[in-house]
Amino acid sequence: MKSYIFSKKKINHVAIIMDGNGRWAKKNDLPKRDGHEYGIKNCINICEKLDKLKYKISEISFYVFSTENWMRKPSEVKNLFDLIQIFYDDFKLKAHENNLKVRHYGSRKKLSKNLLKIIDDVTIKTKKNNGTIVNLLFNYGSRQEIDDAISKINKIKKPSKNFKKYLYVPDSHDPDLIIRTGGELRLSNFMLWQSAYAELYFTKVLWPDFKIKNLNLALDNYTKRKRKLGK
Ligand code: IPE
Ligand code: IPE
Ligand code: MG
Repeated sequence: MKSYIFSKKKINHVAIIMDGNGRWAKKNDLPKRDGHEYGIKNCINICEKLDKLKYKISEISFYVFSTENWMRKPSEVKNLFDLIQIFYDDFKLKAHENNLKVRHYGSRKKLSKNLLKIIDDVTIKTKKNNGTIVNLLFNYGSRQEIDDAISKINKIKKPSKNFKKYLYVPDSHDPDLIIRTGGELRLSNFMLWQSAYAELYFTKVLWPDFKIKNLNLALDNYTKRKRKLGK
């Protein structure tokens, strides 16, 4: 019998603003911490199921914690960082088994030594994997990233004219599609420089309820769009 090989359509970079954990917890009569836990678990779950997508994504970014989120109640910030630390460590083996290359995308300032060690361990462990690149954006703010880039430039005698070189992860592609869950219609300081020509997709689905099938729908919608890039 003849065999057919279907090759999946490739998408370079999809980025997700994972919003709605708080409202999800409220809706389910649970403490907010549980909303964040389900949110982080959902992020890992999606990473493990990327091969179930109709599309092959080269790079996927998840917005986990913004520079402005430090203004939340100290107890919520503590809960969030405890969860990030536990699940980041736990993600090391799962990511490796799934051939994912994981990297932290954000500022290292203000992060604890323990967390920095976990970040570096996971980066090293998954460095040579050639599957999807997973960027985890926490302690990330686009304006901070631009300010930090300018500080780097100011310290160099002959800086490159290519500004991108000074962003947190210079070899990251600009996102082709930015998805925001939770119903708000804004970017909240997410990849402002990189999103110049990104397509935007907003859904009311709260992040912990956003599954692979929702991601497939968003990608179906994206692939039907006509990108002009100013031409
Ligand atoms: C997103 O969920 C996660 C973070 C911003 C850390 P929220 O906590 O913002 O949830 P909502 O928007 O209040 O529902
Ligand atoms: C954006 O969500 C940040 C993350 C999802 C990590 P927020 O809930 O912080 O954004 P605003 O405050 O509604 O703009
Ligand atoms: Mg929110």
